[in-house]
Amino acid sequence: MRICGVQVSADVTTPLVAPFPWFGGKSRACAEIWGALGEVANYIEPFCGSMAALLSAPRVHKVETVNDADGFVSNFWRAVQSAPDDVAHWADWPVNEADLEARHAWLVARKERLRWCLQDPDFFDAKIAGWWVWGQCSWIGTGWCSGEGPHKHDGAHFAGNAGRGIKRQLPHLGNAGRGINRQFLHFGNAGRWINDWISALSTRLRRVRVACGDWARVVTPVVTWRHGVTGVFLDPPYCEGTMEYSAGGNASSIAADVWTWAQKAGAEPKMRVVVAAYEDGRSVPDGWTVRRWRAPKGYAADGGANARREVLYCSPNCETS
Ligand SMILES: C[S@@+](CC[C@H](N)C(=O)[O-])C[C@H]1O[C@@H](n2cnc3c(N)ncnc32)[C@H](O)[C@@H]1O
Repeated sequence: MRICGVQVSADVTTPLVAPFPWFGGKSRACAEIWGALGEVANYIEPFCGSMAALLSAPRVHKVETVNDADGFVSNFWRAVQSAPDDVAHWADWPVNEADLEARHAWLVARKERLRWCLQDPDFFDAKIAGWWVWGQCSWIGTGWCSGEGPHKHDGAHFAGNAGRGIKRQLPHLGNAGRGINRQFLHFGNAGRWINDWISALSTRLRRVRVACGDWARVVTPVVTWRHGVTGVFLDPPYCEGTMEYSAGGNASSIAADVWTWAQKAGAEPKMRVVVAAYEDGRSVPDGWTVRRWRAPKGYAADGGANARREVLYCSPNCETS
């Protein structure tokens, strides 16, 4: 069957997409990413978010590792791998403002504990995954489960304390939501396609290793070239522009640290490194190439100017065709 214009089936060679929107998602850059990485034995996505690149890969690799610092993201992918029907069950709910607010408070209250629990490689929570993805699709813009809003819930009511709390806002009603909330899902068996979608993702991700933490932990030699020819797609939060991300923000030095690491790692014969960034006048080392792609304007306040600056910096051992 087709969902959002995408064929959904358990055949792992069929392109799949995440069932939620994600700021900075690179679905439109995938052809260029895979054109540069080519055929590799080992693939790593240290800033996976909605996993646009891995899900669009033209092949399943011998070893595949994804990572994100956001516990809700990592928990979602782990739960999809291990308990797709449970995730679909918890995600299958109509858009409802009261539920959005109540579930948001419930999820934010579990944010810290979730990060700790995810250190156990076997841990996942399907209810958190289902409610999180349902809200991610109902919520407009950024801030879902960031824990950075002004409101706190003391178990009985909201208080306007500053500090760690939740944001409150009207849910996405304009086009009945995005991703899994494109229709009221629980009537009849209309929710059936959620099961199919999540089950197809589960099949594709069955052997993918999902980590939750800082990107640097999944780019060491043990994780990269020691497994053979390795492709690494790095898509850190950018350090400029209007895009926001759920972890890290755009005021950190992550993008600069990534670029420093990439230049060194790209010299290793078994490494193919692709870095997503804006074209910003940086000095591009000898042998590196630059591929262009066009991002959607989204909610950008700059009229799409930055969307035109999106490029992929590709290390010397990447394919050039
Ligand atoms: C630009 S988004 C990646 C989007 C992704 N390529 C996609 O297609 O959806 C950046 C991601 O980095 C994650 N992140 C932020 N800081 C991080 C860190 N220090 N280590 C790992 N992931 C981080 C964010 O949670 C976010 O999902």
